[in-house]
Amino acid sequence: MSGNSGTEQMSKRKPRVFSGVQPTGNLHLGNYLGAIVRFVDLQQDHECIYCVVDMHAITVWQDPQELLRSTREVTAAFIAAGIDPEEHIVFNQSQVSQHAELAWVLNCTARIGWLNRMTQFKEKAGKNRENASVGLYDYPVLMAADILAYHADRVPVGEDQKQHLELTRDIAQKFNNDYAQRIAELGLAREGEDGGFFPLPEPLIQGPATRVMSLRDGTKKMSKSDPSEYSRINLSDDADMIAKKIRKAKTDPEPLPESVEGLEGRAEAANLVGIYAALAGLTKEQVLAEFGGRGFAEFKPALADLVVEKLAPINAEMKRLLDDVGYIDSVLRSGAERARAIAEPIFDDVKRIVGFLA
Ligand code: TYM
Repeated sequence: MSGNSGTEQMSKRKPRVFSGVQPTGNLHLGNYLGAIVRFVDLQQDHECIYCVVDMHAITVWQDPQELLRSTREVTAAFIAAGIDPEEHIVFNQSQVSQHAELAWVLNCTARIGWLNRMTQFKEKAGKNRENASVGLYDYPVLMAADILAYHADRVPVGEDQKQHLELTRDIAQKFNNDYAQRIAELGLAREGEDGGFFPLPEPLIQGPATRVMSLRDGTKKMSKSDPSEYSRINLSDDADMIAKKIRKAKTDPEPLPESVEGLEGRAEAANLVGIYAALAGLTKEQVLAEFGGRGFAEFKPALADLVVEKLAPINAEMKRLLDDVGYIDSVLRSGAERARAIAEPIFDDVKRIVGFLA
């Protein structure tokens, strides 16, 4: 890394991508199709930083041994899916202290009213909000810090993270406004970005599977926290388990429609067609051109075969990688070092902007 400030480096670089995944239990098909597959694709023409967000994970109780195991498992999944940890950066959040430090500064920029509107907090805290951790409430500000600490330009995520990304942009905008004069005085304004210090990151919520739904209820998203194992397909499921879960997936008695409009009001059918399309690299129209008019008794086995075909090699490679914990840990350590080299000069600029003696 050169000794340039983060701001100088940015004018010469490829667009920078940042995204994170929580190490909280099993990764599922939603995480894979909504996020990880996109992470892999973006490597071609972006500088990518992919983070295992262990500090976000502990906003709800995590068994420490399980957290460690899961941190390594997400790392293995990234690599097994095709992320190159040498060309790009893969690390765990707690190894780079700038995330927590910047989160504190941004806590003083974000407004309580903004956080009160976050639907994910309401969902996760449930009825007993008084008993939720302060960290869970503050979760979106740490997420803003993750992204802004690297001056990331683009953030690939599933649909459920949209509101958090809008908040990130609001926080960046308010920081830029509050300190506009100081940013200009220090010469830290970004060219062509109306004088701001933080770029406003662009959410990338794209593809046919930005919201993969539960296999048991097509109106609920597929989630790690659903008590029913049959609601999701885990990256660690073997072929038999995958086939069984798809066989049991909720559907309706009608055959598949000939066109996408025919999927309206048929949430479960739409979800399975979306999963097929995403895995096969087709559009839903193309899937229906093949399967329209055919019943689920034919479609489900084809879908199960496709899921197994795509996930089995990843599953096997994850197992192989997890046998060598030393390698996984070295990837995270080296990734953290390279991440720090980007975040440190940016955070040093933040300190100067807000008036901290550095
Ligand atoms: P997490 O760990 O819950 O999920 C990781 C990624 O998977 C996507 N995802 C889905 N996509 C489609 N269908 C689903 N059913 C589904 N379930 C999950 C999520 O949208 C996400 O992209 N807050 C983030 C982690 C985070 C982060 C960040 C992301 C922390 N800091 C900075 C981007 C940038 C989260 O909870 O992800």
